[in-house]
Amino acid sequence: MTQQAAKEEIAQLSAAVHHHNVLYYQGQPEITDYAFDQLLEKLVRLEKQFPDLRLPNSPTQRVGEYTTKNFATVQHQYPMLSLSNTYSEAEIQKFVKSAQKLLPNEKITFFCELKFDGVAMSLRYKEGILVRAVTRGDGKKGDDVTRNAETIQTLPKQILAKDLPKAFEVRGEAFMPRAHFEALNKARIADGEEPWANPRNTTAGTLKTLATNVVAERMLDFYPYSLKTEALPLKTHEEGIHLLEMWGFTTSPTYKRCSTVAEILTYIDHWAVEKKNLPVDIDGIVIKVNDVAQQERLGYTAKSPRWAIAYKYKPENLATTLEKVTYQVGRTGAITPVAHLTPMLLAGTTVKRASIYNADAMRQLGLHLGDRVFVEKGGDIIPKITGVNTTQRKPESKPIIFPAYCPGCNTLLVQHQDEAIHYCPNEKECPPQRIGRIKHFVHKRAMDIDTMGSRTIELLFNKGFLHAPADLYQLRYEDIYALEGFKERSTQRALQGIAASKRIPFEKVLFALAIRHVGETVAQKLANHFHNIDALIGATTAEMLLVPEVGEKIAQSIVAYFLDEKNRKLIEALKAAGLQLAMAPPTAAPDSQPLTGKTFVISGNFQSIEREALKERIRHCGGKLLSAVSKNVDYLVAGDKAGPIKLAAAQTLGVPLLSEEEIINMTQL
Ligand code: IVH
Repeated sequence: MTQQAAKEEIAQLSAAVHHHNVLYYQGQPEITDYAFDQLLEKLVRLEKQFPDLRLPNSPTQRVGEYTTKNFATVQHQYPMLSLSNTYSEAEIQKFVKSAQKLLPNEKITFFCELKFDGVAMSLRYKEGILVRAVTRGDGKKGDDVTRNAETIQTLPKQILAKDLPKAFEVRGEAFMPRAHFEALNKARIADGEEPWANPRNTTAGTLKTLATNVVAERMLDFYPYSLKTEALPLKTHEEGIHLLEMWGFTTSPTYKRCSTVAEILTYIDHWAVEKKNLPVDIDGIVIKVNDVAQQERLGYTAKSPRWAIAYKYKPENLATTLEKVTYQVGRTGAITPVAHLTPMLLAGTTVKRASIYNADAMRQLGLHLGDRVFVEKGGDIIPKITGVNTTQRKPESKPIIFPAYCPGCNTLLVQHQDEAIHYCPNEKECPPQRIGRIKHFVHKRAMDIDTMGSRTIELLFNKGFLHAPADLYQLRYEDIYALEGFKERSTQRALQGIAASKRIPFEKVLFALAIRHVGETVAQKLANHFHNIDALIGATTAEMLLVPEVGEKIAQSIVAYFLDEKNRKLIEALKAAGLQLAMAPPTAAPDSQPLTGKTFVISGNFQSIEREALKERIRHCGGKLLSAVSKNVDYLVAGDKAGPIKLAAAQTLGVPLLSEEEIINMTQL
């Protein structure tokens, strides 16, 4: 390879590694870990071959991750390094041999652990008290996530042990147990929300959530894998792990001391099969020299210790045929390609579809119809296409080209600056976008019309009965009864659901309108500030900026929404239908408020009272309502079909449950 070619390739690879690193730490990776490691390895190889061409800010010299601006940044007392990785058993042999060469005539014992697939965290204890939890960040400084780490039940907040060092640091992996992740995703799907991709990204996102009560409900867990202190003469890594166990940490009972390469390889093979039975995802194993003095003599490279190495398992990968690619149009007009595959069994499930993130990812793959494609399933629930076997491509097969026009309405697609996603700009007329907005309107967290499922909305839209959300309130008995699958009772229930939504409070109606960038929290803040829709419609951008959490982008989006004649007509129609477009007037507080100082979470449906009315009753009696179960909650009011996550959280945290009857009795004035 010429100098010039190497220079170009190094520049390209450095940019690609940097780009994918950023996406990974934003929880939105576009390529698999394996593909990323391959890129990085290629860059390392080239830099070794052409050391003068290494860029000054090369990603090979840095530990990944970026701190977020929402948390205070904290300097690590000892840098948080990463591990050198390999996918090859021969490299493990090499690692052992080179350690032996550097420590001639010494007996080396290795400590093997699992490589937990979560988020690295460093915990600082002073006088036995957990004072600080910090993410890895750039390896030198990370985010202070102490409040969030404190919600982890298995993490000792105070250690009462004899001869405890005054200060020490525990490093380990925060993770979401797979069973809990699956339960959470089930609940999300039932709520009509997109499921999360994998427990690792969910853990990273959760740790960087500002609402501690939401973090508590996500029930993260933690496995420590290192103890750092200058105050104790630790001889081996293993001693540190046993001390942590004595101090009340939960370790994974999977570690093993090994003396030979053969023993290490047996450990690797054992967990390759057994990993599916673990409560946590792992992506490999870690082999560490056990003796601390030997570790010190082996030392460190710029990025990683020479006394440890990670062996990573290759994700399960299979070849199948790409039958076609379809394009989904979301509520916001975002276009997502979906690959339809000849069904095959992969990692225990039948795979029929795979995601291709966007047009760029599709172009890079260079897909043709009928291609044999490699599909990979790592920790993610949606499998990914990672490559194409071009040698098996028939000469006549046609390339798949990302559409220029919207598959829903034929409008020319657009791309926003610096975004890889294509959008359909025909917000007003595009049928999938309009259907998407109606589905959002009826969503549990918006108008909560659970009698109107996705299929019913599509049928009514296609029949021309439902053009916009306001049409729901004009539906007649016979319109619904005529639909496939509807009988008398289900039709009545559907109409009752629509009628009941007229009592849904103003802030939820505001959220239901699907104004771009107006989520639940912003809707609540706008409702509190403006009190009614007319005041909001009449507000200037400057007035909106006075509302907490409303910035320029949100304010402009709201103004643009109400400038649109069609949207103003929708508001008039919703008003005429009798929806709550103003905050309820405050009712006089009773003389004595029996629930003062008590906090409640409500979940499920109630027989004798509407959910909103029950909430009002609790507030009226001085009670405070929270949305998530945490240790700060006094009671979980559980109706029919109460959320399994909330029930599980209440059980774990010992929060007592209240039945419908009990809460009604407690709120009698
Ligand atoms: S030891 C000097 N042990 O893997 C580095 N790391 O690249 C010491 N990890 O994000 C790390 N399980 O959080 C170690 N048993 C284990 C681990 C482990 C997972 C993670 C670690 C870091 C990455 C290292």
